[in-house]
Amino acid sequence: MDATTLKALDGRRIVLGVTGGIAAYKVASLASLLVKSGAEVRVVMTEAAQEFISARTFRELTGQPVGTAMFGETSNYRVEHIALAQFAELVVIAPATANFLAKAAHGIADDLLTTMILATKAPIMVAPSMNVNMFENAATRENLSLLRRRGFHVIEPAVGHLACGTSGRGRLPEPEELATAINDYFARSNKRELEGKRIIVTAGGTIEPVDPVRYIGNRSSGKMGFALAEAAARRGAQVLLVTAPSALADPRDVEVVRIETACQMREAVLAEYDRCDAVIMSAAVADYRPKVVATEKIKKSEPTLTIELEKNPDILFELGQKKARQVLIGFAAETTNIEEYAARKLEQKNLDLIVANDVTVAGAGFNADTNVVTMMARDGSREDFPLMPKSALAALIVERLINIIRLNEEAEK
Ligand SMILES: Cc1cc2nc3c(=O)[nH]c(=O)nc-3n(C[C@H](O)[C@H](O)[C@H](O)COP(=O)(O)O)c2cc1C
Repeated sequence: MDATTLKALDGRRIVLGVTGGIAAYKVASLASLLVKSGAEVRVVMTEAAQEFISARTFRELTGQPVGTAMFGETSNYRVEHIALAQFAELVVIAPATANFLAKAAHGIADDLLTTMILATKAPIMVAPSMNVNMFENAATRENLSLLRRRGFHVIEPAVGHLACGTSGRGRLPEPEELATAINDYFARSNKRELEGKRIIVTAGGTIEPVDPVRYIGNRSSGKMGFALAEAAARRGAQVLLVTAPSALADPRDVEVVRIETACQMREAVLAEYDRCDAVIMSAAVADYRPKVVATEKIKKSEPTLTIELEKNPDILFELGQKKARQVLIGFAAETTNIEEYAARKLEQKNLDLIVANDVTVAGAGFNADTNVVTMMARDGSREDFPLMPKSALAALIVERLINIIRLNEEAEK
């Protein structure tokens, strides 16, 4: 199967749960297909599953750590089952053993996978696979029907020769069929919840001129903001991206305004603020700028040179003050006391959500393609996320934005 036919999988965050069935080997191909189609896949295996296929196989195929134990070493996850539960847009269990279905139906949480299942709000898809008698057993049938009633999506097992030597219903569908079922699920749920909404996204690091050829800048690449603009446009929003210099090309379906300084960014954002529904400030705005910009190139005549700086306007603070219906999302890139600073910024700037990251962590922050963040919301909730590409994180932030807009609209009614 050509991965390009599975278009709806691109950028999707899938937790793939593997349980101890003989068909577990087939799921390696499924994981590979999902990854090739652009999905972000995290695998969680039960202990029994590891008797059939090694965690290493999935680690190599997905390029990500595999969850194998409740109390094992965690990588970037503060509390692994919760981080995975929050990361998932969809949880797929393949193969799903009779034992797993029983545990899921009755809320038993005695390993990483079943605990994560209880903790997630993401939709769950199960692909049962077992001996025909196990499948037809009343207990299994009732467990499955209970799960269906609770909204689990069931990929029906196929009829055919079973590994246990019998034949009948109970075979795990082929990886291509499973991938197609997952792709179809996303294709159906590709909603455009931000249709009719106008959203401003800021990106990049502002540059503050010192003289006609020099400036003070920072290491921001603009990747996070560009990914956010694209993610919001994909959900139907009319997006204005106000970006400081960045080497990145304009994202698709987004109006782009390129500026240089903090003052120019302020002007561009304020000009549109009244008409917009949300602002996501991911730009790294310089706190200070040279008080005087030399009109001629500064010559290297003196042994030392002092440049006096003055404070730039605090754009986010101003937006917070002027806020009417707009949802405001800010970023806090810190090197120490991240949570404390982020919580303070959320409050002081009148934000709805803050995305905080420790820029000293490997794979996080400026110029990286990935990020590791904690989100804190105005309602006091807090979520920690594992290392993920900025594109996947952008989709997650946009989902949180959709939620906040929806709650605000419901509250207004
Ligand atoms: C060789 C072998 C094959 C098995 N295949 C299956 C299977 O296809 N489906 C199933 O439900 N259980 C199967 N089992 C039984 C499960 O491995 C067993 O119920 C286990 O406790 C499941 O644990 P888990 O649900 O935590 O992965 C098999 C057991 C063995 C020894």
